[in-house]
Amino acid sequence: ERQIWLTRHGESTDNVIGRIGGDAPLSKSGRKYGACLSRFIYTQKKLFRQKQLEKYRGFSGSSTPLPEPPERNFLVWTSILKRTVETAENFDPKEFDIMHIRFLNEIYAGLCEEMTYQEIEKSYPEEYNARKNNKLYYRYPGMGGESYLDVIHRVNPLIIELERMTDNIMVITHRVVLRILLAYFLDVEKEKVPNMDVPLHTIYCLQPKPYGTELTKWKYDD
Ligand code: G3H
Repeated sequence: ERQIWLTRHGESTDNVIGRIGGDAPLSKSGRKYGACLSRFIYTQKKLFRQKQLEKYRGFSGSSTPLPEPPERNFLVWTSILKRTVETAENFDPKEFDIMHIRFLNEIYAGLCEEMTYQEIEKSYPEEYNARKNNKLYYRYPGMGGESYLDVIHRVNPLIIELERMTDNIMVITHRVVLRILLAYFLDVEKEKVPNMDVPLHTIYCLQPKPYGTELTKWKYDD
């Protein structure tokens, strides 16, 4: 039994005005989400430990008590962008192993970085329509611009690592990467990934089981 927790960063100041990409900090509401998230996950970590001990005690009926099993490691992964790093700021490093990983960054929108969708439609109407018609394959123009497929490829090594590890983990990432991670674990076909609904301030818990992955979802009410 293990848990993979997933969420997007808290609301950023760019989210408020509808700009994509960039490296904006959290808004006030985003910071509140970060604080609540760390408290919520800390409670879940304690609950997990309690259940682990109950199960263990249920089996250890011998007269000489055995030493308790070690507590499972709990990792926190974020991207290297401010909005995810700030969302993880309240996680206590004594309780969680925190890592910032570039592969978890949001899709890079090249020339369209820090623009709103309306601005893109106005300045680059052909690009806007090309993306609308084929969001999965469309690659943003300009140096380093990425497509969903590019992001799927860069996230792949992390998916392999997530499959392999036995630790519990909280991944704080971005809309595109979150869609890709959820789609992998829930067996969603590639074509549907770019339009999956993954709102801000929502926490997903995946529990891999022999017959498939169990999903539980929490919505944070500000
Ligand atoms: O900054 C990028 C957006 O979060 C990507 O969302 O692929 O639905 O346009 P989208």
